[in-house]
Amino acid sequence: MLNIIICGAPGCGKGTQSDLIVEKYGLKHLSTGDLLRTEIAEKSTLGIEAESYISKGNLVPDTMILDILSKAIDEQTKSSNGIILDGFPRNVAQAEALETLMTKLKKEITILIDLNVDDEELIKRLLIRGETSGRCDDNLETIKKRLEVYVSKTAPVSDFYKNKNKYAAINGMGTVDEIFGRISTVIESKR
Ligand code: AP5
Ligand code: MG
Repeated sequence: MLNIIICGAPGCGKGTQSDLIVEKYGLKHLSTGDLLRTEIAEKSTLGIEAESYISKGNLVPDTMILDILSKAIDEQTKSSNGIILDGFPRNVAQAEALETLMTKLKKEITILIDLNVDDEELIKRLLIRGETSGRCDDNLETIKKRLEVYVSKTAPVSDFYKNKNKYAAINGMGTVDEIFGRISTVIESKR
């Protein structure tokens, strides 16, 4: 069983690469961003509250994420080849909560894959996507805030997994296929 975390700054390609990983390795994709956007589209109470954070480029509260995710992880690790976590954990408190949850389920995170992309390229990708995505956070002001939040809150999650020897940095610049080739090499070494 492969339980992978895909991590990196906004626009680094987490969603794009997750789709390819799902196709090749048969993992279940759990994206906290996608789960929240579904709630926003449905105008649920949770979605309305989440949108007020997301549109400003801030993280939504940990309790909200853990509620949504604990159930999904429990279900998916029962019945699949493993999971790919995209956009979670997003800070050290979430990483600690994930470890507790995995221990309870008698499962383990295999590796955190960290996609490294230059800021200039990230902004370019997100502005292009913003022309059609309809996402409330794909505008220059919110993108800049998301990048700041990434550095202050999410980047420390890498150290958490480095300390456990479960960390792989991947060059996230280049074509989608080139990057997927690099990711596949890391995954193959863990199977
Ligand atoms: P989330 O949905 O996780 O967004 P994000 O981290 O900002 O990342 P994106 O989804 O924008 O980018 P991506 O890395 O998936 O890249 P993609 O493949 O799409 O989170 C959104 C918000 O929700 C957060 O800000 C927060 O408020 C909240 N949230 C989510 N999880 C949370 C949590 N755990 N705790 C608290 N709050 C949470 O690619 C980007 C674009 O580039 C696409 O158009 C793609 O086609 C293109 N592209 C991809 N690869 C390449 C390439 N190699 N070359 C050229 N273009 C490329
Ligand atoms: Mg994404």
